[in-house]
Amino acid sequence: MRIRRKKWARPELAVCPFFESEPEKLRARWKERFSREQPLYLELGCGKGVFAAHLALNNRDANLLAVDIKSDMLGVARRRIEEIFNDSRRSVDNLILTAYNVEHLEKILSPEDNVRRIYINFCNPWPKPKHRKRRLTYPNKLEKYFDLLPEGGEIRFKTDDRPLFDDTLGYLEQSGFRVTFKTNDLHSEPSAKDNIMTEHEAMFTSRGIKINALTAVRCAERPGKPEETAQD
Ligand SMILES: C[S@@+](CC[C@H](N)C(=O)[O-])C[C@H]1O[C@@H](n2cnc3c(N)ncnc32)[C@H](O)[C@@H]1O
Repeated sequence: MRIRRKKWARPELAVCPFFESEPEKLRARWKERFSREQPLYLELGCGKGVFAAHLALNNRDANLLAVDIKSDMLGVARRRIEEIFNDSRRSVDNLILTAYNVEHLEKILSPEDNVRRIYINFCNPWPKPKHRKRRLTYPNKLEKYFDLLPEGGEIRFKTDDRPLFDDTLGYLEQSGFRVTFKTNDLHSEPSAKDNIMTEHEAMFTSRGIKINALTAVRCAERPGKPEETAQD
């Protein structure tokens, strides 16, 4: 998603109590950064932060780390999160924002961080074959998520892009995740009453585009690579 440069974003983030500027220092120690020690949820590519704000407000028994690569985007997210929490008369005590590239997620998070759920909403579909490795659901990323999550830990994924969704079902199967829920029309499902809309979801829905969604759980073991299986 393109975003114009916001001169105010970095100065505001620098003094924001719920922005973390040195996430690598907190690897294996994220619980110390939150007011309460509780399971950690991650949102990868959080964009303008509306989903993160409502997720954190609805799940007071979890901590949420919302990650995006763009500081300008996080500046907007900071303002939106503050407004949404203020409207609910709550202080932001279970949500931290950080700027980081998900390609290097293992440098900021370890299995000790107690990550129980990973949310990925409307990530870039990277349709060209030569760019697919950049997808946030590509097997090279799912390997990192597998290493972070405990058995039974979840990935929740939404997208408007059907080819990305269908490819992701295959990526999950080959990476040690079992799909427990999937739909090609989220808003027609009974569970839609608990759905939190993201900015992109609201935009696509207003254009009549259906939303694909899935939940996948981490299996006990990752399937062996084909060559390993052949040798067994
Ligand atoms: C299409 S937007 C979706 C934003 C939001 N999740 C939504 O549903 O409205 C994708 C977001 O992912 C972020 N992003 C893309 N690649 C990333 C990466 N490698 N690491 C972290 N964030 C990334 C972008 O900056 C952008 O904010």
